[in-house]
Amino acid sequence: MSKDTFYITTPIYYSSGDLHIGHTYTTVAADVMARYKRMQGFDVMFLTGTDEHGLKVEKSAEAAGVTPQQFVDDLLYKDGGILSLWKLMNISYDRFIRTTDDYHIKSIQTIFRRLYDKGDIYKDVYKGLYCVPCESFWTESQLQDGNCPDCSRPVDYAEEEAYFFRQSKYADKIMSLIGDYLEPASRVNEMVNNFLKPGLEDICVTRTSFKWGIPVDFDPEHVIYVWVDALSNYITALGYGNDKYDDFDKYWPCDVHYVGKEIVRLHSILWQSMLLALDIPLPKKVFGHGWLNLDGVKMSKSRGNVIDPIILTERYGVDALRFFILREYTFGTDGNFTNELLINRINSDLSNDLGNLVSRTVSMVIKYFEGSLPENQESSPEDNELITAAGGLYALYEKSMDSYAYQDALSAIFAVTSRANKYIDETAPWVLAKDEANKPRLAAVLYNLLETIRICTVLLTPYMPNSCEEILRQIGASADISTFSRALTFGTLPKTVTVNKGEIIFPRLDLEKELAYLTT
Ligand code: ME8
Repeated sequence: MSKDTFYITTPIYYSSGDLHIGHTYTTVAADVMARYKRMQGFDVMFLTGTDEHGLKVEKSAEAAGVTPQQFVDDLLYKDGGILSLWKLMNISYDRFIRTTDDYHIKSIQTIFRRLYDKGDIYKDVYKGLYCVPCESFWTESQLQDGNCPDCSRPVDYAEEEAYFFRQSKYADKIMSLIGDYLEPASRVNEMVNNFLKPGLEDICVTRTSFKWGIPVDFDPEHVIYVWVDALSNYITALGYGNDKYDDFDKYWPCDVHYVGKEIVRLHSILWQSMLLALDIPLPKKVFGHGWLNLDGVKMSKSRGNVIDPIILTERYGVDALRFFILREYTFGTDGNFTNELLINRINSDLSNDLGNLVSRTVSMVIKYFEGSLPENQESSPEDNELITAAGGLYALYEKSMDSYAYQDALSAIFAVTSRANKYIDETAPWVLAKDEANKPRLAAVLYNLLETIRICTVLLTPYMPNSCEEILRQIGASADISTFSRALTFGTLPKTVTVNKGEIIFPRLDLEKELAYLTT
């Protein structure tokens, strides 16, 4: 029997030499979702890649004295480039697409021709305002204070013969459908009020002023302007219009496109119009997440206000960073990054709460039972609250995860780890240990703690795969019970479990010392 599929994408990233934690935000979130769905038994296709054409690359390559292809190859493969960053961040993508891949180029030419033959692409003269860094044309009414509404930089007047995509034709349809696929709801209002209500214009989709792009095969003076090229990656990577892959029917329509808020317009209006024009079913969901800001403004390379993920992961570990960005910030809204928030969050949740719970529990099993619990265990009504909380956790977690509420999913888990720490104080195992007659009661207390840790850790696995594997090893949970289906029932861990001593997983950090380290 074939399993249900789940197709998730990140945007394809611009070729860039300076990746910051803002870039890792979309990808880590997508990775956690992909791992979660795999653990649920879905057949997941997780796609990411790079967006390698356009005027900016052409200019940068020229300045560097290399061909554009050489330029994007170097950025991709270099140390600290996107491939090494995704490896470092433990991103489990299934497929990686480059817009310079031959199969993609062929597909884009096919898509362009299909749209042209249908009459949805036509030739005209473009007169308008163009933002070079964003590679976007804007109308007068879309400008903000006379500048590009995305990056606030000045726009230039531009005029040239070009092909246009008849986006206006699909406005009514998009208006009636956008509420079904775009999340969060605030983004729907933004799109309706700022773009759909004022009326959609046709979009210029080719350029003649630069060469680094995919040529229109029947009019090669024109290169296909980046957005048709970039957006179509989501279908070309499944084999649409090419022979390289053959799983379009299997994975399309996409379950969710993750995108930053500045590209929601392109993904919820232009992309959907293109799909309607191609008679392709629309994606089930587009989720527009917020930005990671620094001092209140978007972290970005061009502003120079970036935080380097490599420095943070070297010091605190990949899992702590993955966890932090999804625990601290609501996925749909902006969040302000500070080093202090990072250190405090590691200390409060990972070190004091989870880490402490694991090390106290494992140490007590070793100290009082030489590492293995006895069969004879005595339960008590005072266990009920913890058992109910841990046993009911998966349902809460699943509800939050399925609505992209990472923070709520994590809050639910950490409410249970806090409850478990409180249970240690209430049951006072060190007092029970003083009297041999209390050993069965002590064993039950430690079992309940181990079992609570197991359930919490299994649910944390998509966020912190490596640390969770180590925690599960320490508490003696074998792989076959470290699964979602076995996290539903409290009492799955064998009664006579044997724990394993291990390193402290999240050592406590000295805030002042770390702040000093990070600012030098
Ligand atoms: O937009 N906070 O590529 P990109 C949160 N090539 N997310 C951030 C961020 C920040 N400070 N900075 C960047 C592109 N991102 C196009 C996409 S898709 C067909 C083409 C996110 O490299 C950004 O919002 O500029 C986007 O989702 C992703 O990084 C890639 O951005």
